Amino acid sequence: MSEHFLSVRDAIIERRSIKKFNGQPVDREQLLTIIDDAVWAPNHGNREPWRLVVACGKELFALHDLLRDLTIPKWQELSSEDLTKQMTKFTLPGGYAFVIVPEDARQKERLEDFAAASTFIQNMQLLAWDKGIGSCWKTPGFLDNPKFREALKVQPGERVIAMLQVGYFDDIPKAKERKTSAEIVTIFGE
Ligand SMILES: Cc1cc2nc3c(=O)[nH]c(=O)nc-3n(C[C@H](O)[C@H](O)[C@H](O)COP(=O)(O)O)c2cc1C
Repeated sequence: MSEHFLSVRDAIIERRSIKKFNGQPVDREQLLTIIDDAVWAPNHGNREPWRLVVACGKELFALHDLLRDLTIPKWQELSSEDLTKQMTKFTLPGGYAFVIVPEDARQKERLEDFAAASTFIQNMQLLAWDKGIGSCWKTPGFLDNPKFREALKVQPGERVIAMLQVGYFDDIPKAKERKTSAEIVTIFGE
């Protein structure tokens, strides 16, 4: 497997959300290495407000079944061809990382923790990109579904803030335009 060793700038500006994976598996050790590096994200009070549930390898089959049950309630009525087609958005990623944050009762801390976990997720996406692994941070409604939370053993006072799909891909999507500093910056006092 070739590593890209991108500069920080290149990783930031070249990363794209990958929504079409090619089904190639992601190595669990590699995913865990990405997580071990991503934890160097800024976080207030060193609370490290994140934990993850990861699926990568044989446990993906059970996860696919769960995602099928949650998103296609009448899946038994579909032909196996239609079901396979509808499931490709779940079956083609090579791995999953669900990022769970504590929901602090204090509003400031809750906001900080969410912000910190977001920087952790961005770290994961950039580190993965550097290894040629694409990712997409997704926030489907089922992340808050009690059945889903139960399956992931999410505790009261915790929230799943991301379904990070990771995997290999054949095509890099076109960049979506971004605003420039001229459009988003106001100089203090002007
Ligand atoms: C908090 C958050 C939630 C997102 N949720 C979804 C989602 O549910 N489905 C999806 O296809 N993309 C989702 N995305 C990815 C965005 O669509 C993507 O980042 C955006 O289109 C910009 O593309 P880029 O990441 O390639 O620059 C999400 C991104 C963030 C940061």
